[in-house]
Amino acid sequence: ASRSFCQLLYRPERPSFGIAFDIDGVIIRGHTPIGGSQQALRRLYGDCGMLKIPFVFLTNGGGVPESKRASELSELLGVNILPLQVVQGHSPFKNLAKSRYENQLVVAVGKGEPATVMFEYGFKNVLSIDEYSSYFDGIDPLSQFKNWEINGEIKKRSTSKEITARHNIFSERVKAVFIVSDSVDWSRDIQVLCDILRTGGLPGRENGQQPRLYFANDDLEYQGAFPSERLGMGAFRIALESIFNRIHPHALEYTCFGKPNPFVFKNAEAVLRQVQLSSHHDHQAVNNGLAGGHPFRTLYMIGDNPLVDIKGARQAGHPWFSILTRTGVFRGKENHAEFPADLVVDTVEEAMDYILRKEF
Ligand code: G3P
Ligand code: MG
Repeated sequence: ASRSFCQLLYRPERPSFGIAFDIDGVIIRGHTPIGGSQQALRRLYGDCGMLKIPFVFLTNGGGVPESKRASELSELLGVNILPLQVVQGHSPFKNLAKSRYENQLVVAVGKGEPATVMFEYGFKNVLSIDEYSSYFDGIDPLSQFKNWEINGEIKKRSTSKEITARHNIFSERVKAVFIVSDSVDWSRDIQVLCDILRTGGLPGRENGQQPRLYFANDDLEYQGAFPSERLGMGAFRIALESIFNRIHPHALEYTCFGKPNPFVFKNAEAVLRQVQLSSHHDHQAVNNGLAGGHPFRTLYMIGDNPLVDIKGARQAGHPWFSILTRTGVFRGKENHAEFPADLVVDTVEEAMDYILRKEF
């Protein structure tokens, strides 16, 4: 009841700025909040826990649906984050579901729940690479040596009866492959992807036209829990591409999404506007599609990777203002030489001090 009372009273001025937070290396490392991120985020909410300042998470990471990521982040960071506020590397894949691949067989690769993510985006005929490769005996010659446990259980393969009941795997061509999140088993995934890509989507058959290949990002490295950077999806792309180009007469063709692509920042601006309107109870404006009615004077991108977050914000131009933290990939004393940020700070908390001092 106190919440709805607050909602009735709480109609502050719409701020003319918004914030996009990178996640890995700015907000968390592994599963641990860093750089005072919990305190920093709390400052974006009013007394009643209502959102005061529009913000989104703009991450190249992923592997779970936005709704699940929003609840995981809410729990970890102690604030109420809406699915709308989570923009992941693979989020734009949803635009390809209706337009191209709604009923086509597609394969989803990566940690977490890549097939669930794609199914929720509207891909009706999607299989994870785990499931897809389990149908082909001997496709991974090393599988017998991989006795690791998955979710506390040794992974079981489906029986061939279950397979034919569900899918016509052996005659239906894979039309596209989506690298949703970081590959868990590079050796198996590179082998199976080479099979799918060089045969036109039917492993074990003769060469055919390469199915489309999409990556959620092209990050060479990112900051995880380990003290030095970890190899990311861009490193996996290089490995796959180098091998494919040695065994196939035509060079690998692919498309990479994620930061630093300018459209990611354009989309983030549109999402921030939606967040702004919904947090200020301007539902009529949202419903009427008036999300373009109130332009932002400044949009802050807070990131840890100069080649990804800062390069992207710089390329996007006005109204983006880039802030580089020293809690992740970047550790330099001065600014980055090739992609200098508008501001360099130690932590996200310091970035928030700067923004709030400047804006209020
Ligand atoms: O796998 C995650 C990594 O590529 C980067 O995540 O949040 O730093 O954009 P983020
Ligand atoms: Mg990062």
